[in-house]
Amino acid sequence: MEKEKIKQAAEMIIKAEYPVVLTGAGISAESGVPTFRGKSGLWKKYDPEAAVSIAGFRRDPEPFWDFAQDLLLENDIQPNPGHIALAELEKLGIIKKIITQNIDFLHQRAGSEEVLELHGTLNRATCLNCKKKYDWKDLVPVIEAGNIPECDNCQSNKIKPDIVFFGERLPQDALKQAWQAAERSDLMIVIGTSLAVYPVASLPSVTKENGGELIYLNVDSGQQDYLFDLIIKGKAGEILPEILKMID
Ligand code: OAD
Repeated sequence: MEKEKIKQAAEMIIKAEYPVVLTGAGISAESGVPTFRGKSGLWKKYDPEAAVSIAGFRRDPEPFWDFAQDLLLENDIQPNPGHIALAELEKLGIIKKIITQNIDFLHQRAGSEEVLELHGTLNRATCLNCKKKYDWKDLVPVIEAGNIPECDNCQSNKIKPDIVFFGERLPQDALKQAWQAAERSDLMIVIGTSLAVYPVASLPSVTKENGGELIYLNVDSGQQDYLFDLIIKGKAGEILPEILKMID
């Protein structure tokens, strides 16, 4: 059954002129990165308001750093076959953009270049007080030792990763480019996201309203299933390499 749908997806991708991809935490699940919602999601364990709201962080950064222990980009987290298949489809000139809500940098590590990070990146951090920039990897040893990073320039303990906290605006340039890509796209492939968080969750309907088609790849049902032309139930790390095989 899914085999037939995989074939159909490959045909839709081949036919499309400007296929774009929208990803969420589910594409990184098989790399060992936890998702946010669902039975074992991060939001069952942490209060988003305390852990990742900008007001909360300014008041007290400690709850964020507790949360970061689970979110940590551990050194052994690697791109999985799903990320790699998408990078390969970009190299073949097929996929034009990856719009992602993920902050884990795994698309880029898999080799994708046209990536729009709408919720920022955990790859860098900025001191909220003096604006000094840090590489996340330089903070990891401090965090792993259970400490809160302190700015070596101004001694503030408010070094915030460049991810979008609740209460912050999305990176406006990336958002604008994502909107334009969604408008232009005649096929959006939506992978591993519950489509629960706006404005990103509006992007599939932007493509649809402009006459494009939509594919949903997820282990489960989503919140906007009625929008999609094709729904494939399965793991991104298993289905995407199958789709690639039919195209390559
Ligand atoms: P969610 O945790 O809401 O959804 C993850 C989706 O991935 C679910 O629909 C799962 O069914 C699906 N899934 C899990 N494993 C999968 C697999 N192996 N293959 C395919 N699908 C799989 O994560 P997001 O939709 O990314 O924002 O959440 C959006 C935003 O909510 C996040 O960026 C974060 C959070 O609050 C901020 O922190 C600003």
